[in-house]
Amino acid sequence: MPPSPSRAIRGRLLTFSGDPAELGAEASHRYLEDGLIVLEDGRIARVGEARNLLPELPATLTVDHYPESLIMPGFIDLHIHYPQTQVIASYGAQLLDWLQTYTFVEEQKFSDPDHAATVARFFLDELQRNGTTTAAVYCTVHPESVEAFFTESARRNTRMIAGKVLMDRGAPEGLLDSAQSGYDQSKALIARWHGRGRQHYAVTPRFAITSTEAQLEAAAALMGEHPDAHFQTHLSENLREIETVKELFPQAASYTDVYDRFGLLGPRALFGHCIHLEDGERARLSESGSVVVFCPTSNLFIGSGLFDLERARDPVGHPLRVGMATDVGGGTSYSMLRTLAEAYKVLQLQGQNLPALQAFYQITLGNARALGLDQNIGALEAGRDADIVVLDSRATPAMAHRMETIQDNLAEELFVLMTLGDDRSVRATYIAGERLHSR
Ligand code: GUN
Ligand code: ZN
Repeated sequence: MPPSPSRAIRGRLLTFSGDPAELGAEASHRYLEDGLIVLEDGRIARVGEARNLLPELPATLTVDHYPESLIMPGFIDLHIHYPQTQVIASYGAQLLDWLQTYTFVEEQKFSDPDHAATVARFFLDELQRNGTTTAAVYCTVHPESVEAFFTESARRNTRMIAGKVLMDRGAPEGLLDSAQSGYDQSKALIARWHGRGRQHYAVTPRFAITSTEAQLEAAAALMGEHPDAHFQTHLSENLREIETVKELFPQAASYTDVYDRFGLLGPRALFGHCIHLEDGERARLSESGSVVVFCPTSNLFIGSGLFDLERARDPVGHPLRVGMATDVGGGTSYSMLRTLAEAYKVLQLQGQNLPALQAFYQITLGNARALGLDQNIGALEAGRDADIVVLDSRATPAMAHRMETIQDNLAEELFVLMTLGDDRSVRATYIAGERLHSR
């Protein structure tokens, strides 16, 4: 007997099959006014018109019906720090001072496994409230912080990418490992968590300022030994940061070259920020298939600069694979909708645009592709994980009022959602077929 479907979700379905910038808006997406997603064993079994599918399904099937809502693949956040839930909204500093004054103080608390477990629970609740079902997550230098995070993620069966931050200099004593201990601890965590259920490991040197050459070499060794692990770090976020990196690595041709010399560029690598890149750096990031991650609320809040998306995507220059992320606690919101709103403004300041369909492609299939996980997540398609968000474009009086002037125009509705929406617009979040959040 084939497994029987456990549940179905009915409503207005939106999913992407490709990048609107490449395929054109129409060909890139599928929209069903009255669609049905049939769930089975945590995955999507079937997707189609409700009127076609319903007659074939058992009458006893539970159908969660959201007639007005937009149902999409769960959002993906490509760069976020779970130990910074009590750093978010820290006043008045740019990157290096912000790290020393606020972040490194808070992160020291994660040597305590109880604290780490409490914050991991809060953090994953918050992602679910915001419709984010997968994230690339920085833990702290303490292996206990990684253990707490994956334990909680595994309990919920969320698909998460996370890693122990590597730092062997430039931070308080309580936050330092060594090249050897960082390697050993990462290795043990990879063995324990990478590929266990839906958990994925990311080798995570914080950034060049807090890692010696020996530590970057150890990170490269870990990637060599575990080529299917992910890699994440920060790159070219802030001008003082870049000057400091040049002082610490005088032999490197550029900030990017610091990582490149150790073979750390590549399709599994996520580089947070990448705001102030030189042309040679773009060339190497492009050739290597690395991903640059745009974090608009963070770039505005800590005053780092304006990410040039048009240049990043420019097909005649050095086109880069691009991701989008919150970067909480430098970022100011857990919401990928708020993130899109700020991305739009960052681009407006540079005379650029962010069409709504492009925006929602980016935070679903676009980010899934950036992770190389698009066979698992990022689309409402049979065989994909049943990670799904249900969105209400009329969640607040201001949204409902604005929606009165929009009839049957998906792009306009999506633009209202990304400009005015936040956690209040998230009616439900499904993780592997289970509704873990609803309002
Ligand atoms: N660069 C190094 N560490 C961090 C961090 O925690 N947040 C941000 N935004 N940039 C960083
Ligand atoms: Zn960051």
